[in-house]
Amino acid sequence: MHLLKWLGGAAVGALMLAGSPTWAVTIGFSQVGDEGDWRPAFSKDMQEEAKKEGIDLKFADAQGKEEEQLKAVRAFIAQKVDAIVIAPVVVTGWGQVLEEAKKAGIPVFLADRDVDADKSLFVTRISADFNLEGRLAGAWLAQASKGNCNIVELQGTVGSAPAIERKKGFEAVISNFPNMKIVKTQSGDFTTDGGKKVMEAFIKSTDNLKDICGVFAHNDNMQLGAIQAMKEAGLKPGKDFLMVSVDYVPAMKEALAAGDANASVELRSAIGKYIYPVMTQYLKDHKELPKWVVIPSDLHTAATPGG
Ligand code: AHR
Repeated sequence: MHLLKWLGGAAVGALMLAGSPTWAVTIGFSQVGDEGDWRPAFSKDMQEEAKKEGIDLKFADAQGKEEEQLKAVRAFIAQKVDAIVIAPVVVTGWGQVLEEAKKAGIPVFLADRDVDADKSLFVTRISADFNLEGRLAGAWLAQASKGNCNIVELQGTVGSAPAIERKKGFEAVISNFPNMKIVKTQSGDFTTDGGKKVMEAFIKSTDNLKDICGVFAHNDNMQLGAIQAMKEAGLKPGKDFLMVSVDYVPAMKEALAAGDANASVELRSAIGKYIYPVMTQYLKDHKELPKWVVIPSDLHTAATPGG
């Protein structure tokens, strides 16, 4: 079989006795980078789950650069891996390399982020619903502010699926409330440092966040940076400002417990257990899959921890 390397003779017997799979799979994984706390947790989980599943995982960190991802995917194609997983930095620019993988007969799976390429070029995307995360954040802010809120927004990486969809989902909800509006918005590139710098600029340009009631950050790391900037300016995030973001990483759990933040939508990072079974099943039977396998999202506050 082209995609699976069936083991022979004694090796098969030994593996069957051990109750392990009788075939070995090599998967190439092109990861975005390590821009915040969530991403390295996701990388670690993918590596650990691969080990448990007996998968040979070739891991490539693109350090936030799409060019690096394109190179990595082409290298995986040259190495004739059994399948490729991509967590794409941005949605655009994927058509050609996906065509190349298809031509080589190597199935591609998207994990976490999306692309805007033709859906026939990948098997499925396994990820949370970023639009829902934005809607959950918007709905929480609407109820917490009783529908009255001037908001500053910290956007994720420009052109990335979570930045696009979280913004859309959030705006769809707040558009139902005439007294809720985004008055300032800028990208902090999903980093703590980026969030801090953007918030420092917002603080300057709004006379210490005068008339601002809420901060929506597309991820926790930017929110944690914003909290630092606000505290340094003598402001009280979580008390005088409603703070909502996405990821629910450990540092955000601490900020919620300390009262410096108010809500965070959980983006699960331990998702190898969702991704690998879908991939290995497909490698066995090639049955068509829905184009999106959705991982659930929940909103947490200090009063409703979990996750
Ligand atoms: O694609 C998911 C987003 O990417 C996470 O919310 C963010 O922390 C990461 O950089």
